[in-house]
Amino acid sequence: MSQNSPIRILVIHGPNLNLLGTRQPEIYGRTTLADINALLRRRAQDAGAKLDSVQSNVEGEIVTHIQNAATRYEAIVINPAAYTHTSIAIRDAIEAVGLPTVEVHLSNVHAREPFRHTSVTAAKCLGQICGFGAQSYSLGLDAALAHVKGLRSSNQEPIS
Ligand code: DQA
Repeated sequence: MSQNSPIRILVIHGPNLNLLGTRQPEIYGRTTLADINALLRRRAQDAGAKLDSVQSNVEGEIVTHIQNAATRYEAIVINPAAYTHTSIAIRDAIEAVGLPTVEVHLSNVHAREPFRHTSVTAAKCLGQICGFGAQSYSLGLDAALAHVKGLRSSNQEPIS
């Protein structure tokens, strides 16, 4: 990808996030997944970037999305949902592909049941943003964009 081409970001939503809007709104809010995707696409566009999003309820499909991202995207924003707490396969895929990845959660997982306090995936990500509802995604996108911009400028040839 050339230095001047739009930054390409992939957003991956894990299991049950297709139900956003009606799923436990007291925890996850009333914003639908389509709303979140539209908001992110606009935000990316405003920043001169391009954004695609995918959702899957299937662990292996999420692994494949991460693998396929390697040649097409410069960063990933991922909400692995319940797989956050269990999926070594998703963790390994993030590590193997090596794309800068930001983990996001709508809810503050650290303030919920103890089994949600552990993320097996976050250690292979740049960081984790949680607890801000749909805004966790925008903050995650901003972090990913800032990181890629930093990488691009540090890769630029010095002017001689
Ligand atoms: C979630 C938190 C997870 O613990 C849960 O399993 C989800 C959603 C969140 O965005 O707050 O499905 O990732």
